[in-house]
Amino acid sequence: MTQRPTAERHIPVMRERIVELLAPALQHEGAVYVDGTLGMGGHTEAILAACPGAIAVGIDRDTEALTLAGERLAGFGDRFVPVHAVYDQIPQALAERGIREAHAILFDLGVSSLQLDESERGFAYRMDAPLDMRMDQSQGQTAADVLNTYELRDLEVILRDFGEERFARKIARALVAERDKEPFTNSARLVELLQRVVPAASQRSGGHPAKRTFQALRIEVNAELSVWADALPAALGLLPVGGRIAVLSYHSLEDRITKRALVAGSTSSAPPELPFELPEHRPWLKLLTRGAEKAGEAETALNPRAASVRLRAAERTRDTGAGAGQESAKPLRKGGADRRNPSEIAGNTDETTTKMGENP
Ligand SMILES: C[S@@+](CC[C@H](N)C(=O)[O-])C[C@H]1O[C@@H](n2cnc3c(N)ncnc32)[C@H](O)[C@@H]1O
Repeated sequence: MTQRPTAERHIPVMRERIVELLAPALQHEGAVYVDGTLGMGGHTEAILAACPGAIAVGIDRDTEALTLAGERLAGFGDRFVPVHAVYDQIPQALAERGIREAHAILFDLGVSSLQLDESERGFAYRMDAPLDMRMDQSQGQTAADVLNTYELRDLEVILRDFGEERFARKIARALVAERDKEPFTNSARLVELLQRVVPAASQRSGGHPAKRTFQALRIEVNAELSVWADALPAALGLLPVGGRIAVLSYHSLEDRITKRALVAGSTSSAPPELPFELPEHRPWLKLLTRGAEKAGEAETALNPRAASVRLRAAERTRDTGAGAGQESAKPLRKGGADRRNPSEIAGNTDETTTKMGENP
């Protein structure tokens, strides 16, 4: 593990824009900022510095991230409250601390550069390591479990939908044949297989042959899409009028879930046959971004991770009563991996999603 100070190990994506969007909701004494994906605390550091009256509750499912962020944010004293939780548990985590609303909430989805850097955690395809990929290493199935136990069809679906991998069927078949010889344990053997199976022409044009498969496994192991589909409506329900939310997504299905929820809240729900709009049909969110914003070229040149980011933000404009935002929640299976059809998780929709690229 590298010994560089935490602040130097991670550049928060679109940091200035996030502060610009969220700080207006955090200018009063006692304002509550929730960082749903604390990571190494880069965004939280910027928000605490810009909003002197605010406290920050930093949530992460990765205990190592909480430790490093705690060191980075120690100077803010008790204005920073670390919480070990999965982000679909934010309302409960706040309630346990006597907090009922959050004036600004940020989600910077996906894997952190810390997790990619820590070779032994198996997220990075460039280093040989046990195939783990759990963000919370205290529980759940590993990437090796997925590779060694999933049926051929399930492997193909996660590679195609979570990895946006054109050769999903070919790879899934090769994985099953290979694991029948000996179960997978380490990433090097998986990378070798992918180098053999992904056609050379595609390797020349499509980047490293392992990156899409590694992304797919990570999303599956951490049930990232179904947890996100649960977490977002719950978070929206915590915003008071004037409260703001910002989401940085790196995968088209994550962004689709975000877009659907924010667009639904910012659109009248009046049935078309009604000649007038009842108060309860009025939009309750105002979009703060036009479509999805991207990082600028200068940032992308410095930080490759920023290349695939899409930012969406919104402000609550009216109260909808208890559990606001829950109207877009869908019943989802808890605690497991994303075994449902991904379009079911992200919502069936005609809208086309842009291919956003994979995390580096
Ligand atoms: C991209 S990093 C966040 C970086 C952070 N914005 C910063 O400035 O350092 C994403 C973090 O979210 C955490 N995470 C991902 N999914 C999570 C979930 N479902 N619940 C809680 N934390 C999660 C990861 O462990 C990781 O540390």
